[in-house]
Amino acid sequence: MKLSGRTILITGGSSGIGFELAVQLLARSNVIIITGRDEQALNDAKRRFPEIETIQSDVSDPDAIRALFKTVIERFPRLDTLVNNAGIMRNLKLGEERSIENVTLEIDVDLNGPIRMVQQFLPHLLNQRDALILNVSSGLAFVPMPISPVYSAAKAAIHAYTRCLRVQLEKSTVSVVELAPPATETPLFRDEFAEEMKGQKGMPVDVLVRRAIDSVEAGKVEIRPGLSNILKIASRIAPGVIFRQLGKVGRP
Ligand SMILES: NC(=O)c1ccc[n+]([C@@H]2O[C@H](COP(=O)([O-])OP(=O)(O)OC[C@H]3O[C@@H](n4cnc5c(N)ncnc54)[C@H](OP(=O)(O)O)[C@@H]3O)[C@@H](O)[C@H]2O)c1
Repeated sequence: MKLSGRTILITGGSSGIGFELAVQLLARSNVIIITGRDEQALNDAKRRFPEIETIQSDVSDPDAIRALFKTVIERFPRLDTLVNNAGIMRNLKLGEERSIENVTLEIDVDLNGPIRMVQQFLPHLLNQRDALILNVSSGLAFVPMPISPVYSAAKAAIHAYTRCLRVQLEKSTVSVVELAPPATETPLFRDEFAEEMKGQKGMPVDVLVRRAIDSVEAGKVEIRPGLSNILKIASRIAPGVIFRQLGKVGRP
């Protein structure tokens, strides 16, 4: 599958992996539309790369998804690629006081968001000659990390959903690909986990995105760069050992 000459919508394209995808895919002659909640961050992206189209939209809000669909299809009727990248990851101590609404934020953004985006955009994508849905999960989809319990649950679930979606769309014109990044140098990796990840190095974001693009073009459907592949293999051959290792992250 060629990643050029496409019209690509990237959720969460104002930072990190989404922004780098936008920049590298723009350089390959694609039309790029990015979303995010923070208008300032979208404006900053636009200032750096004026060809990138920006639309403020929150994937955790069903009304915002309906409005986004209307705007995108009106302005970019040739949309053929949806990248479900927007995500949040928190360091959650489940024993601390927290509202029952707040505790499920990662489910709203990282799981319900992409599932609803697919539901909204799929009828349009099914009418395109060669469409692509790229869901960004995580290496933690294969082995959960106890300091991020709801995130790990959301990513394991989006992995399962993406596999099912791929089978259901097997005979259609829509390809379904999963990108499961390992720890990658982005604000998500550094802000919330500054203490836990001190001294650890994530994969450089430009390297991750280059690998992702090359892998999609090579026809891979489950892309597991670096440590993500190790996590998947270890989850099969030594699940207890690898889970115990991840359980040590953030422990004194
Ligand atoms: N970095 C890693 O180590 C790593 C590893 C594995 C998987 N991933 C996955 O990769 C994806 C991108 O993460 P990243 O590391 O690039 O994070 P990042 O630098 O924090 O960027 C996240 C992007 O998502 C947007 N976003 C967050 N909540 C949103 C919402 N409700 N609606 C729309 N946009 C929203 C953010 O913009 P606003 O805040 O303005 O909305 C931002 O543009 C995520 O799905 C993450 O789980 C990352």
